[in-house]
Formats: sequence, C-alpha cells, structure tokens
Amino acid sequence: MMLCIFSTTCVMANLILSSSLLWILTVDAVVASGCMEVERNALLTFKSGLVDPQNFLSSWEGEDCCKWRGVACSNATGHVVKLNLRNRNSCYIFIEECPCLSGEINPSLLLLTNLEHLDVSMNNFSGTSIPTFLGSLKNLRYLNLANSYSSGTIPPQIGNLSKLHYLDLNSEFIYPRNLRIDDILWLTRLSSLKYLDLSIVNMNTSTGWLHAVNMLPSLKVLHLADCSLPGISTSLSHFNLTTLNVLDLGGNSINSTLPPWLRNLTSITYLDLSSNEFHGVISDEFLRLSTLNNLFLGYNGFKGMNPKALRYLCNLRSLDLSSFNIGGEIMEWVEMLPRCVRNNLQTLYLNDNNLGGNLSGWLEQMNSLTDINLGSNLLSGSIPAGVWKLPNLIYLYLYNNSLEGVVSDVELSYLRKIQYLDLSLNALTVRVHDDWVPPFQLKEIFLASCQLGPNFPAWLKSQSQLEGLDLSKSKIADTLPSWF
Ligand SMILES: *[C@@H]1O[C@H](CO)[C@@H](O)[C@H](O)[C@H]1NC(C)=O
Ligand SMILES: *[C@@H]1O[C@H](CO)[C@@H](O)[C@H](O)[C@H]1NC(C)=O
Ligand SMILES: *[C@@H]1O[C@H](CO)[C@@H](O)[C@H](O)[C@H]1NC(C)=O
Ligand SMILES: *[C@@H]1O[C@H](CO)[C@@H](O)[C@H](O)[C@H]1NC(C)=O
Ligand SMILES: *[C@@H]1O[C@H](CO)[C@@H](O)[C@H](O)[C@H]1NC(C)=O
Ligand SMILES: *[C@@H]1O[C@H](CO)[C@@H](O)[C@H](O)[C@H]1NC(C)=O
Ligand SMILES: *[C@@H]1O[C@H](CO)[C@@H](O)[C@H](O)[C@H]1NC(C)=O
Ligand SMILES: *[C@@H]1O[C@H](CO)[C@@H](O)[C@H](O)[C@H]1NC(C)=O
Ligand SMILES: *[C@@H]1O[C@H](CO)[C@@H](O)[C@H](O)[C@H]1NC(C)=O
Repeated sequence: MMLCIFSTTCVMANLILSSSLLWILTVDAVVASGCMEVERNALLTFKSGLVDPQNFLSSWEGEDCCKWRGVACSNATGHVVKLNLRNRNSCYIFIEECPCLSGEINPSLLLLTNLEHLDVSMNNFSGTSIPTFLGSLKNLRYLNLANSYSSGTIPPQIGNLSKLHYLDLNSEFIYPRNLRIDDILWLTRLSSLKYLDLSIVNMNTSTGWLHAVNMLPSLKVLHLADCSLPGISTSLSHFNLTTLNVLDLGGNSINSTLPPWLRNLTSITYLDLSSNEFHGVISDEFLRLSTLNNLFLGYNGFKGMNPKALRYLCNLRSLDLSSFNIGGEIMEWVEMLPRCVRNNLQTLYLNDNNLGGNLSGWLEQMNSLTDINLGSNLLSGSIPAGVWKLPNLIYLYLYNNSLEGVVSDVELSYLRKIQYLDLSLNALTVRVHDDWVPPFQLKEIFLASCQLGPNFPAWLKSQSQLEGLDLSKSKIADTLPSWF
C-alpha cells in the first residue's frame, strides 16, 4: 500500500483506488445481500424434508442463505458451493434417539448446481437408502455420508461424480449394518479419488475389488475394514497405487498368503491387515517398507516373527503382532528388536503370544510407549516400579498372565495420562487408601479376579468418564455405595 500525505498525484491515485474499491465492494454487496433465490428456495425445500428436533437449522431463515449454518457460497460467483451438516453429537452413543437430523435428502439439492462439498455424516437417514440423484451433483469433490445410512445398495450413479476427491461411506457406528455394494465397477470411474472409506459396507460379492481400486491412480487413503471382502488377488500385472499412504483391510477374514504386490506400496505409512487369515512367510521385501509408521498384523495365521527382520522399519511407531505364537522369553525377543524400533515405539501389542518371563529390565526402558498390550501370555513376577513411571502411558493391558504382588496408590498415582487399564486375571492385590484421589480419569478399568476387597473402591467415585468397568471376582464384600 502506498503511503500518501499532501501530494496531488497521490490524492488522484487514491481517488481512483477508492472508487475502484467502491465498485468492487458494490459488486460484492450484490452477491452478499443474499444468495440466489433459486438456491435459497432449494435449501428451504431440502430443510422441509428433514426432521430436526434439536433445531440445528434454526439459522435457516432470512434472505442471505450464505450466512445460514453449514452453508458456504463462492466469493466469486455467489453460488452455494458447500453444505456441511455433519453432526458433532456422536449420534452413535444414543441407542434410542440421537440428537441429529433424520428424514430424507430432498432432490431439490440438484438445484445447487455448483455444489462441491456435501457432508451429512453422523446423522440418521437409516430408514432410507442413499439417493441415486446424488450421482447428478456433477461438481462434487467431497461427499461424506459416513454413519448416516444403514441399508440398501450404494447406487452405481455415485460413479458419475468424476471430480470426486473424497468419498466416505463408512458405517461403523450404525446398526443394523447392511449397506452393500453389488457391482463394484462404478468405482473405477472415480478417477480423481484420493480418499476412499467403505469400511463396514458389505462387499462380499465384489471379487474384482482390487482391480477396481487399482484403477484409481491418485488414491492416498483406502479404508476397507470389515467389508467381508471375498479374498485378495495375489497376482496383479501392474500395481498402480504407488502413492497410497494408508491401506486398511482389517477384519475381512481374507485367507491368503501376503500378496507380492504389497512390496510395491512404496509410500505406505499405515498398513492394517489384522484380523484376517493371512498366513505363510512374511517376506524380506515386505519388511523393507521403510516408510511404515503403523503396522497391524495381529490375529492372522502367522507363526512367529524374527525381531531382527524388522530392521528396515525404523520409522515404526505402532506394532501389532498379536497372536503370532511367538513363544519364548519376552525380554530376549524385545532386545533383538532393532534399537531404532525399540526406542521409538509408541504402541506395542504382543498379546496372545505364549511369551514367558517377566517385565523387569526392558519394558521400563521403552520410554515412548503410550499403548501396551501384553495380555494372555505367560508373564510372571511383579510389575516393576519403572513401568508405572512410563511418562506417556494411556493404555495398559496386562490381563490374563501370572503377574503377582501389590499395586498401591503409590504406583497408580504415577499414571497421570492413563485412560484404559486392564490387570484382570492375575494374582495381583490392588490396595489403596480410602481417601486416595487418583490423578487420572479412566474410560475403562478391568480388575476382574484381582484382590480388591473387602471394601468397594471409594476412589472410583472420582471417575466421571467411565465407559467400561469389570470388578468381578475381586473379593468385594460390601454394599454398593449410593453414589455409584
Ligand atoms: C470467502 O472469503 C472469506 C473471507 O476471505 C473466506 O473466509 C471464505 O472461506 C471464502 N469462502 C469460500 C467458499 O471460499
Ligand atoms: C434412526 O432412524 C430410524 C428410522 O427412522 C429409527 O428407527 C432409529 O431409532 C433412529 N436411531 C437413532 C439412534 O436415533
Ligand atoms: C450415471 O450412472 C448411471 C449408472 O451407472 C448411468 O446409467 C447413467 O447414464 C449415468 N448418468 C450420467 C448423466 O452420466
Ligand atoms: C453376502 O452377504 C449377504 C448378507 O449378509 C448374504 O446373504 C450372502 O449370502 C453373502 N454372499 C456371499 C457370496 O457370501
Ligand atoms: C492403472 O491405472 C491406469 C489409469 O487409471 C489404467 O488405465 C490401468 O488399466 C491400470 N492398471 C491396472 C493393472 O489396472
Ligand atoms: C513391483 O515393483 C517391482 C520393482 O520395482 C517391479 O519389478 C514389479 O513389476 C512391481 N509389481 C507390480 C505388481 O506392479
Ligand atoms: C484357508 O484356505 C486353505 C486352503 O484353501 C484351507 O485349507 C484353510 O483351512 C483355510 N484357513 C482358514 C482359517 O479358513
Ligand atoms: C526376570 O527374568 C529374567 C530373565 O529370565 C531373570 O534373569 C530375572 O531374575 C527375572 N526377574 C525377576 C524379578 O523375576
Ligand atoms: C488366557 O491365556 C491363555 C493362554 O495363555 C488362553 O488359552 C486363555 O484362553 C486366556 N483366557 C482368557 C480368559 O482370555
């Protein structure tokens, strides 16, 4: 900006500047004085199809629909380009009636010809199926219907949205779950797609699913968890998805050896193959995916894992090798992990592995750990003081071992960040003072079969965030306190 004081040329320039500014402001004012009437009416018709007990759309009145909640217009054209009606209330925790929108999506949306972004996620349209006319909103780049539909076939018309970058149809929080895909071919036409989440959608007849996603060369994120995928192709002539960062195929019961094309995931940071029936040898090439931060392989048919084989995975933060039948001494196994892995791991799941030994001399040195699951092993001895002092622990699961000794308020007081604690099925005594006030707020605490009684633990009174509690067989002989 020019600095002008007492100069004629400068005053002239200023006049010209402010008159053109005025002109721009006037044009802006015309656009901003209210959205286009046809679009305003379309939105009002759309609203009339919705049931809105919480009055979420109370601001939807008056001339300027661009100022209504969830509506955004283009600054250049004045057209409605964005409709964000995502429900922030976590509808899914309400079994009976959620504080969200329901009803139907009215086809009047088609009059919003410039709509690029549509998000109605976490609402409840579960009585209806996904409208086919959404496939005619041809300017859509972003479509999020996650957790808002539960039934019917995903309309193949969605495949007409050739500009789509982002598609989320995940329905993990919705019951009953029977959203499905009959013929996956429509997916191959979404060639601009970068983000795709179809988790929980039933794809049990989509034998060509891998060939279909292989046609999406820009894909970075792919979530297909719990899709009942009918298998996985191990032979692909050319793997296109070299830019893929996230591949999530957990919970699909896929019975296969690891496909050779996995080694071509040269940009992968997050890989979840857990809870399938993958089996056989985990090849060296696979374990060279050095970009990996998160690797979830638990609950498959693998037998054993040589910790030295993880030497290329120095960027690993999460490692899930649950149910690998590793066996032997846990300390020996962990100490063979490459130092870069051992020092940086935040999440370590080695549950269900027949691992023996104790927790002394190794676990307390893994300072970065936030999440530990060593449940259902053969671990014995006491829990060393250094474990309680791990500075970032959020999740500590040690259930179903032979751990022994006394856990008192002194130990528990070190756990300032803990949210999930499971010490069940061990020979542990948990003994705290009646007036102890914990420094944490737990979401889950499981102390089944620990020696806890005879008094009901008074400190639980402070735990206002609890979602899960198991104190069975913990030798409590008391009346349930009224605050409970
Ligand atoms: C319009 O401009 C405002 C202010 O510069 C900005 O905050 C808003 O995001 C823009 N809207 C769109 C849809 O780009
Ligand atoms: C969602 O809507 C369906 C059908 O209208 C209804 O039966 C169900 O109770 C609703 N669910 C919630 C959580 O409100
Ligand atoms: C949209 O997709 C459907 C089904 O895939 C197809 O039959 C129809 O011709 C497409 N419409 C347009 C306008 O491309
Ligand atoms: C796919 O799932 C549906 C619904 O659960 C089921 O009725 C059908 O038999 C399954 N088909 C196959 C091929 O598994
Ligand atoms: C890889 O992607 C390109 C472009 O989308 C496609 O033409 C080709 O058929 C794909 N390759 C395979 C093996 O699917
Ligand atoms: C994977 O990458 C290797 C080496 O770059 C290449 O020879 C092979 O053809 C690729 N495999 C597939 C299925 O694309
Ligand atoms: C996986 O498939 C093989 C051969 O097709 C079969 O023998 C085996 O029982 C299957 N495993 C599981 C866990 O279903
Ligand atoms: C823990 O196990 C190691 C290795 O087996 C053993 O040397 C050590 O004595 C054990 N420590 C305790 C406290 O049991
Ligand atoms: C406890 O672990 C053993 C193996 O160490 C397993 O066989 C058993 O099923 C587990 N029990 C529970 C209740 O998880």
